[in-house]
Amino acid sequence: MESLRRLSFVSFIALLAYFAFLASAEHHVQQFVIQPRPVKRLCRTHQSITVNGQFPGPTLIVRNGDSLAITVINRARYNISIHWHGIRQLRNPWADGPEYITQCPIRPGQSYTYRFKIEDQEGTLWWHAHSRWLRATVYGALIIYPRLGSPYPFSMPKRDIPILLGEWWDRNPMDVLRQAQFTGAAANVSDAYTINGQPGDLYRCSRAGTIRFPIFPGETVQLRVINAAMNQELFFSVANHQFTVVETDSAYTKPFTTSVIMIGPGQTTNVLLTANQRPGRYYMAARAYNSANAPFDNTTTTAILQYVNAPTRRGRGRGQIAPVFPVLPGFNDTATATAFTNRLRYWKRAPVPQQVDENLFFTVGLGLINCSNPNSPRCQGPNGTRFAASMNNMSFVLPRSNSVMQAYYQGMPGIFTTDFPPVPPVQFDYTGNVSRGLWQPIKGTKAYKLKYKANVQIVLQDTSIVTPENHPMHLHGYQFYVIGSGFGNFNPRTDPARFNLFDPPERNTIGTPPGGWVAIRFVADNPGAWFMHCHIDSHLGWGLAMVFLVENGRGQLQSVQAPPLDLPRC
Ligand code: C2O
Repeated sequence: MESLRRLSFVSFIALLAYFAFLASAEHHVQQFVIQPRPVKRLCRTHQSITVNGQFPGPTLIVRNGDSLAITVINRARYNISIHWHGIRQLRNPWADGPEYITQCPIRPGQSYTYRFKIEDQEGTLWWHAHSRWLRATVYGALIIYPRLGSPYPFSMPKRDIPILLGEWWDRNPMDVLRQAQFTGAAANVSDAYTINGQPGDLYRCSRAGTIRFPIFPGETVQLRVINAAMNQELFFSVANHQFTVVETDSAYTKPFTTSVIMIGPGQTTNVLLTANQRPGRYYMAARAYNSANAPFDNTTTTAILQYVNAPTRRGRGRGQIAPVFPVLPGFNDTATATAFTNRLRYWKRAPVPQQVDENLFFTVGLGLINCSNPNSPRCQGPNGTRFAASMNNMSFVLPRSNSVMQAYYQGMPGIFTTDFPPVPPVQFDYTGNVSRGLWQPIKGTKAYKLKYKANVQIVLQDTSIVTPENHPMHLHGYQFYVIGSGFGNFNPRTDPARFNLFDPPERNTIGTPPGGWVAIRFVADNPGAWFMHCHIDSHLGWGLAMVFLVENGRGQLQSVQAPPLDLPRC
């Protein structure tokens, strides 16, 4: 009798699992109310722009194959749009989010519903505002589990901890931006970095809020590290513990161990961590990897990994023991940053395009705009100039009266041109001592057309104009393979021989080595207007961006969908 009952219980569970499988694609409906909310950090309270009053914003947890309908209701005083960073948005640029690229911003009092599906993607991504500097506080994690029953290529820990690295200003970030836009100088550096919204023990008035992660001895957890900082690549480590890297930008990697990771704005890195050290308290910490010759925020954010059986101090000075501090690389340790990035490999053989239809070469870097009156308050950049940035000498200007995608779809002229150059208009020694005559870019809203399903290769070449620097380049609507990189100028005769066309890492954001180049490949199988830009927001604002216009293929399944009816108007 007992065994019979057990049997029926087992078959009941099996039945449940079966139904769960049938109904496995879920539809997630959610509201994101954009609203100011008092947030106290570094001793002061600011009216921060938040989603649903939360900072950082809500974590979205979905499965591969699920669909989402997120209604963004704008109750703030700024225009806003939300980008689902890394989601491919196949044939659906309308849900991508960058303002004036695929949509007009959502005005105060208005709303827009982002409807999209997760198609063949799993891992850690994130979402953030894509309107001026609102993403300083408007961001959150987007975690995609595999379809039910679909395995991980490694043994997946039971516990999963999102680690959102952010950047905090002790001012309204929109005012910091406004000031920089007025003066033409670099924006003020941030006052703190944050882990899950908290600066941690090393900042004023922050100790009480420091994030603590309890952990059981022997337990393995997965940390989903997301760099949501505005303007800074970061080193991240945990004292005395090793990481096993298993995923970057929602693509699995061949696992390898390291004591430190370097992560650029826009990137995500999943690592496994085993609590195999003496029961105690250990800091996890992040601070700048600064590759440029420029001011930066040199502070350190911390959280505490706390063994549940950590000893406490007795007697006088009773309480918790002081956490152990990790060894972090020096701020300008490009060798460590590069060594880390170069270890990344796709977890299996990657379907990299072996031939190339579009062979593109883009310089990326800073520039300076000369002023007729160098003493003007609007020209407070170096020597009475205004900062700029460009790709192939084109400094991108956002359109104002429509988005690129809407103008493209409606065939409306005058919003953008399609003459973005496939190679630099002038060739020079990109990483050498560049003559001043080449420092000033041309402003424009330029796109580059790609045929549907073209195999595209882009070499992104950093320049030494103003300063060499690691530029975390992000491509919307795609994942690409990082097939090679190096320092100095790319050599088209010798460097391709060393390309990895077998297991290169797949990403959506990759940094140019400072004073170097990185080569990527992808298949242009997603029609639409897709932004490519530096994920350092101050560089993006200066124009380090361009747009790919990927043409439709044949028939509905290869063409951009019709725009949703509630798509905001400019
Ligand atoms: Cu995460 Cu266009 O950005």
